[in-house]
Amino acid sequence: MAPTTIMAVANQKGGVGKTTTAVNLAASLAALEKRVLLVDLDPQGNATSAFGFDKAELVRHIYHCLVADVPVASILRQTELHGLDVAPANPDLAGAEVELVTELGREGRLGEALAPVVDRYDYVIIDCPPSLGLLTLNALAAADRVLIPLQCEYYALEGISHLLSTLDLITARLNRRLTIDGIVLTMFDRRNKLSFQVEAEVNAYFAAQVYQTKIPRNVRLSESPSFGKPALLYDITAPGTKAYLDLASEMLSRHTAKPAIAPPSSSATPPREATV
Ligand SMILES: Nc1ncnc2c1ncn2[C@@H]1O[C@H](COP(=O)(O)OP(=O)(O)OP(=O)(O)O)[C@@H](O)[C@H]1O
Ligand SMILES: [Mg+2]
Repeated sequence: MAPTTIMAVANQKGGVGKTTTAVNLAASLAALEKRVLLVDLDPQGNATSAFGFDKAELVRHIYHCLVADVPVASILRQTELHGLDVAPANPDLAGAEVELVTELGREGRLGEALAPVVDRYDYVIIDCPPSLGLLTLNALAAADRVLIPLQCEYYALEGISHLLSTLDLITARLNRRLTIDGIVLTMFDRRNKLSFQVEAEVNAYFAAQVYQTKIPRNVRLSESPSFGKPALLYDITAPGTKAYLDLASEMLSRHTAKPAIAPPSSSATPPREATV
């Protein structure tokens, strides 16, 4: 059996489509018959509620695994989709950033917590919060790969230099296995010239690292969380649903075709002042 791929979905920029991507990629991989664990590592708990779990009613969640050694196996929730489990989070997780600061090996907590269950899955997808704080560091220390969603808007590349230099540091100091899986363009709007400008600029900098599949701006993707469902259980015909299924297929064929792409040196990253 192929080893598990642990993939962090990260970008410290807020609202770029991390959670929408983590949720719908996880669901699409499960629909393609992979065994998938979605780890909600954001105190906002959006990936948790996207599957209809009530954050307020959670007794145990990922916070307890990080700070109190509660086994991850005991917090897992099955979803309506065969093969897809969720490790839920709620706002208590914000406390972990503070409580772990003085702990030895604090960046390794998530990796240790996940280790006993990782073998049950083909993919572990981690939804990161919009910061490069201790929670995201835990995700990047546990992961083999990082998927970076980029929103097709002004200043899309702002902050990417910082993210890439953080990834370089993590690869050097914390986790030599970590590679950039790829960049996925989100909220692509073909009626808007700006989307095409962002695509051209991102392709110019990142070339083969950019997924061919672009995620369109699609209202079904923003509606489905309020029904507690990933898009493919809410509207299988929606363009957004199809795009995430295509992304999952492209990912699977990339992963079987060739090894991960090495992280670029931060010296090759776009200038901070890049405008799209
Ligand atoms: N392709 C899309 N089409 C339409 N709306 C989208 C799309 N992707 C995301 N959205 C909406 O944009 C908003 C931000 O998306 P999302 O929550 O996935 O971003 P995020 O990066 O996880 O945000 P945060 O940084 O706060 O965690 C949400 O309201 C979501 O429903
Ligand atoms: Mg999010």
